[in-house]
Amino acid sequence: MLFAGKFQGSILVRSKIEKGWQWMSAGTKCKQKSPLTIGQNAKKVPISLHHVVRAPPPRSTPPTVHQLLRESIQRVRNHVQGSVFKNQSRAKGLWKPSQTLAFGVGAGVALHTGWSKMNRAECKVKANGATRLLEVKKGSDLETNNGEHFWEVLRFLREDVWYLLAAVASAMLAAFINVQIPLLLGDLVQVVSEFTVREHAGNYLDAVTRPALRLISAYGIQAVCTCGYIAILSSVGEQLATRLRTALFTSLLKQDIAFFDIHHTGELVNRLSADVQDFKSSFKLCISQGLRGTTQIAGSVVCMYGLSPKLTGVLVITLPIIVLAGAAIGAVLRKLARDAQEQTSRAMSVADEALANMRTVRAFAMEEQEAALFSQELDRASGLQSRLGFGIGLFQGLTNLALNGLVLSVVYYGGYLLASNEVQAGQLMSFLVASQNVQRSLAAISILFGQAVRGVSAAGRVMEYIKMEPSIPLTGGKCILYHSLYANVEFDGVTFSYPSRPQQTVLKDFSLSCPRGKVIAICGPSGAGKSTVTALMERFYDVTAGSIKVDGIEVTELDPSWLRGRTIGYINQEPTLFATSIRENIRYGDPQATDVEVEEAAKLANAHGFIQDFPSGYDTVLGERGATISGGQKQRIAIARALIKRPSILILDEATSALDAEAERLVQDTINAVSKGRTVLIIAHRLSTIQNADVIAVLSDGRIQEIGSHTELMKRKGMYADLVQRQASHDH
Ligand SMILES: Nc1ncnc2c1ncn2[C@@H]1O[C@H](COP(=O)(O)OP(=O)(O)OP(=O)(O)O)[C@@H](O)[C@H]1O
Ligand SMILES: [Mg+2]
Repeated sequence: MLFAGKFQGSILVRSKIEKGWQWMSAGTKCKQKSPLTIGQNAKKVPISLHHVVRAPPPRSTPPTVHQLLRESIQRVRNHVQGSVFKNQSRAKGLWKPSQTLAFGVGAGVALHTGWSKMNRAECKVKANGATRLLEVKKGSDLETNNGEHFWEVLRFLREDVWYLLAAVASAMLAAFINVQIPLLLGDLVQVVSEFTVREHAGNYLDAVTRPALRLISAYGIQAVCTCGYIAILSSVGEQLATRLRTALFTSLLKQDIAFFDIHHTGELVNRLSADVQDFKSSFKLCISQGLRGTTQIAGSVVCMYGLSPKLTGVLVITLPIIVLAGAAIGAVLRKLARDAQEQTSRAMSVADEALANMRTVRAFAMEEQEAALFSQELDRASGLQSRLGFGIGLFQGLTNLALNGLVLSVVYYGGYLLASNEVQAGQLMSFLVASQNVQRSLAAISILFGQAVRGVSAAGRVMEYIKMEPSIPLTGGKCILYHSLYANVEFDGVTFSYPSRPQQTVLKDFSLSCPRGKVIAICGPSGAGKSTVTALMERFYDVTAGSIKVDGIEVTELDPSWLRGRTIGYINQEPTLFATSIRENIRYGDPQATDVEVEEAAKLANAHGFIQDFPSGYDTVLGERGATISGGQKQRIAIARALIKRPSILILDEATSALDAEAERLVQDTINAVSKGRTVLIIAHRLSTIQNADVIAVLSDGRIQEIGSHTELMKRKGMYADLVQRQASHDH
């Protein structure tokens, strides 16, 4: 078998040059025709290499031909079953274009292995299976910044500034007293040592009481201060976390729909929980121990200088070297921390997506695969975290080594000074305790350093989304008073591409007039852009060119919250409900609605009957995203939710597709009844449901191909008539 082309995935290949098995990564170009050397009976088989398959974990030993074939066949089968996932291209860089290749893919050879083996292979391969995750592209929106927004987090502390100052003052006082303690201890030791000399006259207790009391008071004050700053800081930290989470969640809710098209829920939830938590812990530790440590170092150095400038010199000369080395390691650790946090988010988004789509996972028996994928992502995260841990450990180890070396030099040099009577015993004692203070503080700061690295990076990630401004605001702009609202909608030369896929133009010069009181229907093939029209009407996205006007005013000038909240009733193609009671789900359309109004809306949507049949009626609590009721029931509750707000513009995107003929007829009657005085935009595949519409537009390839009433379009014998005929013959 020969192959030439561009690989979009990874595939097991054999290099003739290196005689080893390798994974060819995504995007590798293979210009020369490459012969297959596996299996002499290999036939030419049409295997698409445009599908992306995942590389297995690195092998310690080269695979056997059987192993190779089983895996290759499984990939081909996965592809046929449509369960091939996008590649992470983990083996990037292994392939050298100059190598001659031989593929381990051979459907002809597969016949040798037999189905039983293939099935066994399937089970085995599944655990390693493919990944549905995409590689995070460098420079893409998924990549987060380098903590550049960190400082902006401080504005969230403004409200607690006094508490914070009190905590800082307590921490500094505790540190200051810590600095004094060696001196007081030195005084005490000096007094005691004087009494050890025989010829010393005087009362021991009298002499010792004063320094001892001073020392005890210092200990007491230090204890109170320590308790004070820890208590205050933990309260400030909790407040800060609450404010950050609220601000982040509020900001996320404001983001454009396009933002949610590209960001995983798991990643966002991780920022809300883990990142805020990381920042809070670091903040508390840095203020308490960091501030205390720095104060102690500064104070101790001053004291030490007072005790012996010579000894202090030994310390001060070497400290900057340690600090500089620490800063260099720190830069590396910060990057590692950011990578580790992002990878953890990624792992969480795998779990989040799988749990949210549990029915799909179960239906495809993908539990093992999902577990493998999760563990694989977690492994990568734990690998990065371990590297970070090693880095932090190395940093701390080196710091400790340097600091202990310093203490040793102090003892060595101090002993010499003591022998030459340049310092006294008490002074040396004070100096040693003070230098140990410095050592302990520096060691604590070095531990803190790792935490601070995580905290800065986490705060950057949190602030990045808090600061992000959506391009479409939630509120602000013109509102049309209810009584002067005609709700004439006009699409004029609309061209549109989704921001996440700018190269694909979904709507091309789309113009449609939806006058008040008329029912406008849009039909056409799947993917034509019908739902996109409704999304633009709701202003989920802004048009690339052209305009959409309501009563002559461009939607970009209108208040989006007025437009969405009060004017448009939108029934989504895939309606989702919340995990609350049916009553509250319907009331979501109008939070002020009474129970009677809720029931009226349900009756209009032909939902009252089945709701009453539930044992708890309107108080029946639904599962997450409306699971636990049927698709048709979900649709009718969604219709009731849209109708309860009495919208002037009603948009129904495949709103009755899940209903049986009878229920559909009833809902259809309702729609006909409620459409009076409203502008109704209906999208339906089942053409029988839109026959009575005033205007039917046939949308194909982003353009309106035909427009007119049912009778007009049937007479024209064009695309619409064709579609109707095909559906009719299909139904019979
Ligand atoms: N959020 C999105 N981001 C990027 N592309 C999208 C998005 N939603 C839809 N598309 C693409 O836009 C095109 C039109 O999609 P749309 O949902 O409007 O089709 P449709 O006519 O409603 O199809 P159907 O009848 O199947 O519901 C499709 O090619 C689709 O892949
Ligand atoms: Mg659609």
